[in-house]
Amino acid sequence: MSQVIILKKKIKKFNKEINIPGDKSLSIRWVLFSSLASGISTSKNLLISEDVLAAINVVKKLGIKVILNKKFCKIYGKGMSGYQYKENMSLNAKNSGTLGRLLLGLIINSTKKIKLIGDASLSKRDFKRVTYPLSKFGVTFKMSKNNGLPLIIKGSKSLKPIKYIEKKGSAQCKSSIIFAGMRTDGKTIIKAKKSRSHTEILCKYLRLPLKVKNKKRFDLIEVSKVKKINPINYDVPSDISSAAFFLALTALSNNSKLLIKNVNINPNRIGIVSIFRKMGIKINFRNKRIYKGEKIADILTSSPENIKPINCPINLNSSAIDEFLVIFLTVAAKADGVSYFKNLSELNQKESPRLKWAEKILKMMGVKTIVTNDSIKIFGNPNLKINKKIVIKNYLKDHRVFMASVIAALSFENKKGWYIYDKDSIKTSFPNFLTIIKRLNSEK
Ligand code: S3P
Repeated sequence: MSQVIILKKKIKKFNKEINIPGDKSLSIRWVLFSSLASGISTSKNLLISEDVLAAINVVKKLGIKVILNKKFCKIYGKGMSGYQYKENMSLNAKNSGTLGRLLLGLIINSTKKIKLIGDASLSKRDFKRVTYPLSKFGVTFKMSKNNGLPLIIKGSKSLKPIKYIEKKGSAQCKSSIIFAGMRTDGKTIIKAKKSRSHTEILCKYLRLPLKVKNKKRFDLIEVSKVKKINPINYDVPSDISSAAFFLALTALSNNSKLLIKNVNINPNRIGIVSIFRKMGIKINFRNKRIYKGEKIADILTSSPENIKPINCPINLNSSAIDEFLVIFLTVAAKADGVSYFKNLSELNQKESPRLKWAEKILKMMGVKTIVTNDSIKIFGNPNLKINKKIVIKNYLKDHRVFMASVIAALSFENKKGWYIYDKDSIKTSFPNFLTIIKRLNSEK
């Protein structure tokens, strides 16, 4: 199948209701927690994407039985000591930073050497952010020169609890340390800059020994050794990071309206909603409820008259971290004035250097930017017309570069065409992305 998609026309006006697949962060966490539970856990609406399949394959390799079909996934956990470690085994996190980093915290008790590998994009990403705190527990690592993958971990049976200050606002880093703390006698204490709280919420729901004190900018987390995890039956809510593409598409379409059902609106994930509202885009949460500790709602949005620029407050950075690219390429490009986003060096640490990609793509679109290592100013143009061939390729197959570009292409008509390569990249997080686009573009 051709890997390039060619788009020349703006999407037609729509008024629809859609369902988005399960949340990626929650799906991976469910797989990992269930693999350590004592008994059988069942999930519905688990995201079936390459990142989650990589998590399933890793736990299978560690000796855990998994049954996966279209309706459900069952994981036959064998308790906290159920993993079978083999000398020099290798575990493949593929494209998933969340899997690679969280897993290291979980296998910290292996006295056998384990090699962690990943694909070309993950191998370039920074693992020091987790190996540094984990080594304080008494674990040894052999790292690649660039601090990426492959790396070798040799755990220990006599782990010491740690005190750590997590300053990046990285939920992966925080969660990796929580998992390591769950395997360690004594109290591990983390002062963590605010970030998505799914791991803590699952721990609380499972009544694991974890305490959280929420401060204004930080959370103080205390975790002790976990003896037993009960099986977790979980109906995974939909992913706001996937919904984000359609919020942006609606914002740039004419007279359109969209209802997205059953979305996880964890307060540390809804930065995009605050940003859109500040830019004058209406977003309403309907039917708000709590599911196993997570906030859920149906999201209703519609096309605004015009879009205001934003000086984005930095306290929204972590809660919109996966959404900035689509925000830059769509609403900020179309806003009536200059938008400014700062303190965002983390964006260049993702599946591809996204701040750099935003700059490149906006330039191709004819949108002026001023970019530094950690900030971007976008000179929005409400009357933007594109009339030149735009080619998006060689972006390390970053799924969000592909999807954000498709949304920009459907929002800014271009008779010469957008040629967006590596369609398969969506398989990591949102395999039916293009199917939903087709549905929105059809009369039915
Ligand atoms: C994630 C945390 C974020 C996010 C990623 C998923 C998670 O990464 O970008 O897509 O599930 O914990 P960081 O922890 O690096 O900010």
